Amino acid sequence: MSGALDQAAAGRSGTPAAPGAGAPLLEVKDLRMHIFVRRGEVKAVDGVNFSVRRGESLGIVGESGSGKSMTLLSVMQVLPQPGGRIVGGQILFEGEDLLRKTARQMRDIRGNRIAMITQDTLASLNPALTIGVQLREPLEVHLGMRGKAANERALELLRHVQLSDPARQIRSYPHEMSGGMRQRVVGAIAIGCKPSLLLADEPTTALDVTVQAQYLRLLREIQKETDLGMIFVTHDFGIVAKVCDHVAVMYAGRIVETAATRELFDRPLHPYSSALMDCLPQRNLDARLRTIPGHPPDLAQLPPGCGFADRCSRVHERCRTEAPSLAEVAPGHKVACWDVEGAA
Ligand SMILES: Nc1ncnc2c1ncn2[C@@H]1O[C@H](COP(=O)(O)OP(=O)(O)O)[C@@H](O)[C@H]1O
Ligand code: SF4
Ligand SMILES: [Mg+2]
Repeated sequence: MSGALDQAAAGRSGTPAAPGAGAPLLEVKDLRMHIFVRRGEVKAVDGVNFSVRRGESLGIVGESGSGKSMTLLSVMQVLPQPGGRIVGGQILFEGEDLLRKTARQMRDIRGNRIAMITQDTLASLNPALTIGVQLREPLEVHLGMRGKAANERALELLRHVQLSDPARQIRSYPHEMSGGMRQRVVGAIAIGCKPSLLLADEPTTALDVTVQAQYLRLLREIQKETDLGMIFVTHDFGIVAKVCDHVAVMYAGRIVETAATRELFDRPLHPYSSALMDCLPQRNLDARLRTIPGHPPDLAQLPPGCGFADRCSRVHERCRTEAPSLAEVAPGHKVACWDVEGAA
């Protein structure tokens, strides 16, 4: 990793000291975010717990509508309006509870100490401004860098994401670049202020397979080299295997299983995790055509028991009345299911 980037980050004012060895960078405890709509209360994030350390990446995987984006947006405190409200829990980031921050303090944290990349970020480059202007803007706003220093830093960032000929590219407009180059620019902007946490929400979903693979490699490199903590949200278990150290499987606003990636791939215990994995082409020859039968429950009218009961082949009576909570069944491997020995 580049020394200049390190020095620039070290010189930033207001950055708290790095957490002690092994302390989580982000710790989310019993987070609840509900959306109050006319037809009721949508429990989009319903008691979620996870943590991420520096240099580590956590994948959150689940079908569409399971609450993945709402979990990330809750960490950023950019909630759907009207109606979105955090109704419980804690979000400890570098030891500070983000839920106690003022709106102004959160504005200073977003894009600075916590960066976010979404599917739309690639399209968010302004066609009317050069790459240089767009790279310098967050440096000026968050770090107070100006003139030559900001320019040097912008060049440094482009070198860091291995964009060829940065001195020329910094004066280019987005339309003069290939898609792959624009991705590198977006990566450079995201790490510009040297965030300690990167939230990536399905950033590769709209990309074709080859470009997707390049982008995943780039993100992984950036993440490892800058010692970022990363949360990577996707509906695709295959992507998690490529990018993430740990996985949390989310269903109906809750985490139903979490483990180290390898462990979860080798030994999925929750029926929903197994079903998701059966949809993977590398596991199943006809998987491309396969989806999990049935639908997730309406998050405004959650059943009293397990949210997966209507779709589960292992359902039994207790599942209909009591919701299982996460229990550790092996070191670091937690499952919420009545049918797993040692769980719940
Ligand atoms: N503005 C909104 N009003 C009401 N419900 C919403 C709104 N935005 C999201 N939801 C609901 O919140 C749930 C979780 O959504 P989301 O986190 O976007 O899912 P995912 O990212 O896993 O696909 C979904 O059931 C969705 O319908
Ligand atoms: S708790 Fe019951 S319904 Fe839910 S996943 Fe486990 S076996 Fe299936
Ligand atoms: Mg989403």
